[in-house]
Amino acid sequence: MNNIIHHVTVKIENIIKDTDRVNVYILSDPDQNILPPFTAGARIDLHLPNGMVRQYSLTGKMIGHKQYKIAVQKEISGRGGSVYIHENLKIGDIIPISLPRNLFPIQKASRKHILIAGGIGITPFIPMVQTLEKRGEDFELHYCCRNAESTPLYNILKCLIDKNKLHIHHDNGDTNAGLDIRDLLSKQQYGEHAYCCGHSGMVRAFKDATKKWSQDSVHCEYFGANNNDNVAYEIEIASTGQIIPVNQNQSMLTALRAKDINIEASCEAGICLQCKTKYLDGNPQHRDMLLSPEDRKCYITPCVSSCQGGRIILDL
Ligand code: FES
Repeated sequence: MNNIIHHVTVKIENIIKDTDRVNVYILSDPDQNILPPFTAGARIDLHLPNGMVRQYSLTGKMIGHKQYKIAVQKEISGRGGSVYIHENLKIGDIIPISLPRNLFPIQKASRKHILIAGGIGITPFIPMVQTLEKRGEDFELHYCCRNAESTPLYNILKCLIDKNKLHIHHDNGDTNAGLDIRDLLSKQQYGEHAYCCGHSGMVRAFKDATKKWSQDSVHCEYFGANNNDNVAYEIEIASTGQIIPVNQNQSMLTALRAKDINIEASCEAGICLQCKTKYLDGNPQHRDMLLSPEDRKCYITPCVSSCQGGRIILDL
């Protein structure tokens, strides 16, 4: 039987400072071999030396596959992955990554593509606009940021796209002064597809604005969940009766791991469902991006989701 390759090893070839908070990392094969191909919108998992796994969109030009490019924004109040990358990874380091996978592809045979990016959410759109320009398809890109200084990858982007198709929206910190997504997407024209990658507030506004669209035409790339509203609670393990306290600053996954209960997890951001676990009782606080309403009645994603208080019984 042939072995299937799930991971490759890459070397950090270069690190380029793009903005105050964003670094671009150039990754290549340590022996200069060609890397596995990818399509516009694809992402990879980075397996960091501290055991964290984080996803980043491939954002390089799609010319040959000798290098991958990712852009990482340092999020001081995030889950720690981006801070670790900024403060620890250096040129020459060797790290394992997953093969590219694409959950955010460009749709074929569309009349027009409307792309909406928020901040570092621009990353998957860089190869996407390149592909759309090459195909000669109609599109417009709306890129929302606070100000010119905090507009990641702008210098790369402006060389790839006709300026009439690029709409930059700087709100200077006033959310009312930014792009009116509802107005932009108020009516779906026949054959139009809309795409969004940005912070959770932007994705919510996008989903709200496209509620009446055909859902086959609406595409989101998720960054991961915010779990700042946790409360303390307990987990009960159904098979043993073991009680595990979870404090306000802990994820359910971390609390389980601390007691040597290991659930397989990949993204740790609520966007892959690898950690999906059955629960038997309790009031879950779901924060994943993918479970269906039906699944939420009996499954939870311990990497990001929690309990609204009291106790949750996991079918483990
Ligand atoms: S590990 Fe991906 S959803 Fe939990």
